[in-house]
Amino acid sequence: MSTPTDAEATGLALLARAEALARHSDSPDHYTRTWLSPAHREAARQLEAWMREAGMSVRTDGAGSVIGRYEGASPGAKALVTGSHYDSVRNGGKYDGILGILVPIACVARLHGRGERLPHAIEVVAFADEEGARFQTSFLASRAFLGRFDEALLERRDAQGVSFGEAMRAAGLDPAAIAAHPRDPATLAAYVEVHIEQGPVLLDEGLPLGVVTAIAGGTRHRVTVAGAAGHAGTVPMARRRDALAAAAEMVLAVEARAKGQPGLVGTVGMLEVRDGTGNVIPGEVSFTVDIRSGEDAVREAAEREVFAAFDAIAARRGVKVSAARNHATRATPCSPRLQDLLAGSIAAIGCPVRRLASGAGHDAMVMAEATEAAMLFVRCGAGGVSHNPAETVTAEDAGLAAAALGEFLRRFAPAA
Ligand code: GLV
Ligand code: MN
Ligand code: MN
Repeated sequence: MSTPTDAEATGLALLARAEALARHSDSPDHYTRTWLSPAHREAARQLEAWMREAGMSVRTDGAGSVIGRYEGASPGAKALVTGSHYDSVRNGGKYDGILGILVPIACVARLHGRGERLPHAIEVVAFADEEGARFQTSFLASRAFLGRFDEALLERRDAQGVSFGEAMRAAGLDPAAIAAHPRDPATLAAYVEVHIEQGPVLLDEGLPLGVVTAIAGGTRHRVTVAGAAGHAGTVPMARRRDALAAAAEMVLAVEARAKGQPGLVGTVGMLEVRDGTGNVIPGEVSFTVDIRSGEDAVREAAEREVFAAFDAIAARRGVKVSAARNHATRATPCSPRLQDLLAGSIAAIGCPVRRLASGAGHDAMVMAEATEAAMLFVRCGAGGVSHNPAETVTAEDAGLAAAALGEFLRRFAPAA
């Protein structure tokens, strides 16, 4: 019988924790964990317990993020912050975000077990909301961590009609204090995030780990198409102003524009027919548009053209279209210095180094506004699928990620 390698044994423990954490789900049928739901609060308590067990002091901030601190050799030293998010998309995978919290907890536990202190402090941050599935927010928790909360979000309601403020109060948080204690960037040494790749590059090349070079920028919009509701049996086809038929053409316009250019992606992920009924011509439809590219100029040109196409479709069909942008991030390069440090750490544990860009958004984009930031990618199985329950990672790869991050933590020194 073969015995597991050290990396595999660490990885098996990490996967067991990811499995246990995924049981804290809003749904009994699949894994969904939205901001401040009862399951989300249970997951926070579990993470807090694991952080304490690893030798960290723990606090929860105004957005519900769980922050564990492992002091350096001299108390109060600047912190190398590492972490990711513990909310999920609806019916998501167990590792998106979670791996980037569990891996550093394991690294700190190892330091603690040896009684080892580094010159800098380490903080593991479990960001409470990155996906924004409940209130259609993005990077809510990392923004709040830095005191960059957008007050307009307080007006939002979730699908059940619960307001943002009510949700916070029900979870014992104060909406007025969500970003009241911003983290002073002068106390941050850097930010590094471990994350599954959420794509097939590492898998296709047979590589366990990667160094992220840059993170694609993206925007999200809510589009509303107003036509005229009417009787499905009586209004002649030529007289209709069908909002859904117009929206369908718009969805295809997004797809066609994004398909036309390498490095550009466009997605309509939500579409809702207001008061939709089988025998009523749709009068109002709303849908989301998500457009991303590693190059801001490419994305901005695509947005202009997509919205011009929407206007043309609306004019031809006699409907009205309006759009509100509710999220925007610019493409974010990762720190070249930290990339090299990660590359050296990966090589030191005997793995080949592959540099690659991230198409997905990450809390690292927000943290990069305040400090040097970098990301370590871990290979996904199952064709690289993510935002899907089929998302997987192997124990060996999770263990290698812990070994590489452990090496990085030891090699790290704040920028001169
Ligand atoms: C986060 O998962 C995003 O890229 O949308
Ligand atoms: Mn995600
Ligand atoms: Mn994620």
